[in-house]
Amino acid sequence: MKDLLADLDELKQEAGGSLAAAESRERLQAWHGEFLGRRGRLAQLMRQLGEAPAADRARLGRSANEVKRELEESYDARQEAVRQRELETALAAERVDVTLPGRPVDLGRLHPITRVLREIDRIFGRMGFQTFDGPELETDEYNFELLNMPAGHPARDMWDTFYTTVPNLILRTHTSPGQIYAMRSQAPGPLRVILPGKTYRYEQVTARSEWMFHQVEGIAVGEHIAFGDLKGVFVAFAEEMFGPGRRLRFRKSYFPFTEPSVEVDVSCILCGGAGCLLCKQSGWLEILGAGMVHPRVLRWGGYDPARVSGFAFGMGPERIALLKYGIADIRYFYSNDVRLLESIRY
Ligand code: FA5
Repeated sequence: MKDLLADLDELKQEAGGSLAAAESRERLQAWHGEFLGRRGRLAQLMRQLGEAPAADRARLGRSANEVKRELEESYDARQEAVRQRELETALAAERVDVTLPGRPVDLGRLHPITRVLREIDRIFGRMGFQTFDGPELETDEYNFELLNMPAGHPARDMWDTFYTTVPNLILRTHTSPGQIYAMRSQAPGPLRVILPGKTYRYEQVTARSEWMFHQVEGIAVGEHIAFGDLKGVFVAFAEEMFGPGRRLRFRKSYFPFTEPSVEVDVSCILCGGAGCLLCKQSGWLEILGAGMVHPRVLRWGGYDPARVSGFAFGMGPERIALLKYGIADIRYFYSNDVRLLESIRY
């Protein structure tokens, strides 16, 4: 009996020391298997109790059960302590400092041309103009002939054209073909529309000229439309687009599809009128061509020029954006450099 009691005591001591050294769940599990498992060391000792003299068995049994209970309690306590330590370590590792300032988010910005196109749309919308759309691939008929430029007309040289491999299909050189579509969709009723879109010209790229650029065509047809209306519309437009104080200049010009024709310049924002590369040292930048719709074009559009008249214009949003945001070179718009977007304060 003495031996068994000594063994029990020794087991208890050993188990206690080993439990105190178990620092992880895995070690704890292994410890449990070794000492308290069904085939563990305590179970083995308890099996030997059956061989003890009958008089000692009850006492030995009580002692063994006592050791078992104590070891189980120590195990539970140790398990809880290890769990708590692991939780604390994990919390410390994942600690979030909610007082730190947030990371700034880079917000996207609209391209200046998109902004100008939307602004043009808004200004003319308030004046009662609807927005129409037209194709970028055009026929010779719409791009030239119906605009009073038959084959061989010298004015065609004003628009250096990109041809396609499809016969008679070109990239439109201006948005003016839209005048014909718009008139034909409304004639003989009154008309007030704008047509924004991309245009293409095989021409020298410079600080103020691109080979692909936008235009916004506009046309108004009705019974009492005069040149004064055209002027009034642009004065109001410039004031809304650029704010008060920007000067406008109307210059006589020539387009085969308008008579009389003008070009409109805005005083150069970059040099304040003193002369620079952008305005070719003139102090002015041309933003649009315009005029009273030619009677022949009115007729091809489905109107009777004896009864109605109209004005039309084609403006350049890139030129307007150069002036509005003080940008020195049109090539920045399509160079894909985000610094352009970051530099503009809207
Ligand atoms: C025309 O294209 C005429 N269709 C305008 C018009 C419409 C006249 C209706 C009368 C009636 P022009 O080639 O001048 O005209 O171009 C008109 C505007 O487009 C110019 O004032 C300018 O603002 C812009 N523009 C012309 N060429 C370029 C270019 N290469 N790069 C950027 N903008 C341009």
